[in-house]
Amino acid sequence: MEGLDTGDGYAVRDIGLADEGSLRVDWARSRMPVLAALRDEAERTKPLAGMRVAGCLHVTKETAVLVETIAAAGAELSWSGCNPLSTQDDVAAWLAREGYSVYAWHGQSVDDFYWCIDKTLEFKPTLTLDDGADLIVRVHGERSEYAEGVLGGTEETTTGVHRLRAMAAAGDLKYPVIAVNDAVTKWDFDNVYGTGQSTLDGILRATSVLIAGKTMVVAGYGHCGKGVAMRARGLGANVIVTEVDPLAALRAVMDGYKVMTMDDAAPLGDIFCTATGMKDIIVERHFATMKDGAIVSNTGHYDCEIDVVALENLSTSVRTIRKDNEEFTLANGNKIHLLARGRLVNLAAAEGHPSEVMDMSFANQFLSLCRLAAEAKDMDNNVYDITVEQDQNLATTKLATIGVSIDTLTTDQIEYKDDYTAGT
Ligand code: ADE
Repeated sequence: MEGLDTGDGYAVRDIGLADEGSLRVDWARSRMPVLAALRDEAERTKPLAGMRVAGCLHVTKETAVLVETIAAAGAELSWSGCNPLSTQDDVAAWLAREGYSVYAWHGQSVDDFYWCIDKTLEFKPTLTLDDGADLIVRVHGERSEYAEGVLGGTEETTTGVHRLRAMAAAGDLKYPVIAVNDAVTKWDFDNVYGTGQSTLDGILRATSVLIAGKTMVVAGYGHCGKGVAMRARGLGANVIVTEVDPLAALRAVMDGYKVMTMDDAAPLGDIFCTATGMKDIIVERHFATMKDGAIVSNTGHYDCEIDVVALENLSTSVRTIRKDNEEFTLANGNKIHLLARGRLVNLAAAEGHPSEVMDMSFANQFLSLCRLAAEAKDMDNNVYDITVEQDQNLATTKLATIGVSIDTLTTDQIEYKDDYTAGT
């Protein structure tokens, strides 16, 4: 551990950054009206009274607004980041100065990362909140002594939900978990528009390249890959998609992208971005055929999509050419630029998804914690979806906050909907 532990319930890079963090959080708060409405109500009703929440989720300005909301609802909490490169140090400083227990700083080693998670467990949580499942997997493994006290948990991301469903299928899950990621008001928006915009933002901050006219290879055409491909095309890139799932590949074809294997795409791409949730997507044989100057990045949760070790082994020298951009010179003389060490470029090199979209994701997080506080005792040790009503209510509130009105069905129309005798 880097010697940042104060012994006062927090460890951050520099508490002196708190004023900057405060301004950044103000900005986010003013763009998260759904969460603000939930907070107003929760301040009166205290749905999380008596709960102790351990969170393991990117420490960003939007997360700070979620933290405030959880606290306003009556819970105590302790927080760590869920990626060694995603913490916004000024926000972490502000949280600590406000008296929140936060263990997170930008640029952690893997040991530091787990040290921070363990500090939040020492706080003996009754609820866990994850993004990527590292905290909950820890509670089910090395730190299983804390599992008994936990009523339930939530999970923010596709990769994490995947891991948890595997745990549940193996009968290994020790408490109920709500798959926040699978809410329509989360993944149809956050994963598509959030990832799409923030990924291009990260690539641009780390490179400042012109996207127009470039060939961009997007690996994976799930919701995240779809968002990245869409925004790259919007900036004028010729987009190639690689996939393993025939349905997703077909969707990409019909959306107008070229689809091919990574072996075929590697020599064609100027910019690469992986968004698959799978390991070993760009490996040694791909680096070997890439163009001189190719830019390689990842926006998936873990840093296993790009084989960075293979790139290092192929290279004769490396230099950091600008922030979050390392230039590897290969033995064949070509240069390859790796962004953010292959960690998620949208959070490591930019600020993650914009507040407006995190508003809905974190409203789902908050409501899921409230549901667990009320109902976890009666739930099985399984992975639960959020309810259709929650999705509908959040969408309705979000529309209201952006001033959009929609039509409603008449009684006649509602009857027609379910009348199977109606026809030609
Ligand atoms: N994941 C993606 N973007 C994020 C953000 N802005 N805050 C927290 N988690 C995120």
